[in-house]
Amino acid sequence: MKATRIQDLKRHTGEEVEIRGWLYNRRSSGGIHFLILRDGTGIVQCILDRSRFSEEEFESHGKLPVESSVIVRGQVKEEKRAPGGVEVALSSVKVLSEADLNYPIQKKAHNVDFLLDHRHLWIRSPAQAALLKIRATVIKAIEDFLDEEGYIRVDAPILTPAACEGTTTLFEVKYFDQQAFLSQSGQLYNEATAMALGKVYCFGPTFRAEKSKTRRHLTEFWMVEPEMAFATLDEIMDVCERFVSCIVQTTLKERSQELSLLKRDVTKLEAIHPPFASISYTEAVELLNKHGYSIQWGSDFGGDEETLLSRQFSKPVMIHHYPARCKAFYMKPDPADPKTTLSVDMLAPEGYGEIIGGGQREDDYDALKKRIQQEKLPPEAFEWYLDLRKYGSAPHGGFGLGVERTVAWIAGIEHVREAIPFPRTLYRLYP
Ligand code: 4AD
Ligand code: MG
Repeated sequence: MKATRIQDLKRHTGEEVEIRGWLYNRRSSGGIHFLILRDGTGIVQCILDRSRFSEEEFESHGKLPVESSVIVRGQVKEEKRAPGGVEVALSSVKVLSEADLNYPIQKKAHNVDFLLDHRHLWIRSPAQAALLKIRATVIKAIEDFLDEEGYIRVDAPILTPAACEGTTTLFEVKYFDQQAFLSQSGQLYNEATAMALGKVYCFGPTFRAEKSKTRRHLTEFWMVEPEMAFATLDEIMDVCERFVSCIVQTTLKERSQELSLLKRDVTKLEAIHPPFASISYTEAVELLNKHGYSIQWGSDFGGDEETLLSRQFSKPVMIHHYPARCKAFYMKPDPADPKTTLSVDMLAPEGYGEIIGGGQREDDYDALKKRIQQEKLPPEAFEWYLDLRKYGSAPHGGFGLGVERTVAWIAGIEHVREAIPFPRTLYRLYP
């Protein structure tokens, strides 16, 4: 007999089915045990009636520890009060592996460190499983959008010889007798592939040795990075806006059940359609100072500033034209106002803060070489990158969107660590 997934049971009402899963919970009343099973696709209540089992089976199934793995068979019955609209009248129960007693994760509230130490089990809990499903949908929406718009996926290396996003957050690794670093961003390689293929993206894990312990920082996170040849800042911002709207709307459509399980207020997400707000860095400084900050023009925004800015808008806001001094070496200065750059960050609303960083790249050979020297980056490691400005340089740019921050915002959770299966943070490398 083929297994039926719990999410499909309703279509099999009246039929005899097989379910393969785990005991999520159980209770007993009168001559009946209620076994609540989960299989990853859903949860269903199964009725184990004394009259259909031997005395011995009835005894032992009634004591089955939670999280035991089982294969059961039974008839699907309509039950309007049940979560999926059905329950199953069991005819057989096969226990594959009886779980140890005292499953570490109980219904009571555990502290988050305990839960993170047991992340390998915590992901079985409905809310955590819902988050992983939302993440999968966000990733699929990202890929579908870019594939449909003609971007070619060309993944960038993870072992790299140099920094992309500043030297303070590099993870160093030994590479035989050389020094290498885990990639902070695939952008530089994307610029090469964009000059070969036009529109490209890379999508993979990126690494930052962030010494900060905030709700927005992981040391390993996933980033999608589209890059376009012949694109200018305006075009990049247009893509950012359509891209993020599409991700949100797809997730709303395909994960309504999971969002409702997480008690997400979806009306806020339903409004996420272009156009988004867009303000310059200078305007953002004025806005902050109006709210009691005293930000000097030229300094970068921290977490608190981002939170405040992002609460001023009901949709994401794009902040453009950051000062050169708070952005990476590759940013192209605006010819009309060279102390600013053709850069853009997108902040998600409701206080979530930055989800996108990007902009137009310096495409002039001499200007870029000078910036590499100013930043004291090793020139040998950037020769290939400078070559791109020697052989058919063209205006180009793109952006990076952080998957976990995007998932955290869409799902409405407090911290990015629950938006990735196994988070890596300043103090966490286990499990
Ligand atoms: O703003 P960032 O540093 O931009 C870049 O890396 C560019 N090279 C991307 C590009 O233009 N191709 O990072 C981009 C995004 C951030 O907006 C944020 O969403 C995410 O990556 N991000 C992090 N997410 C979790 N933990 C961290 N430590 C993150 N650092 C960046
Ligand atoms: Mg950034």
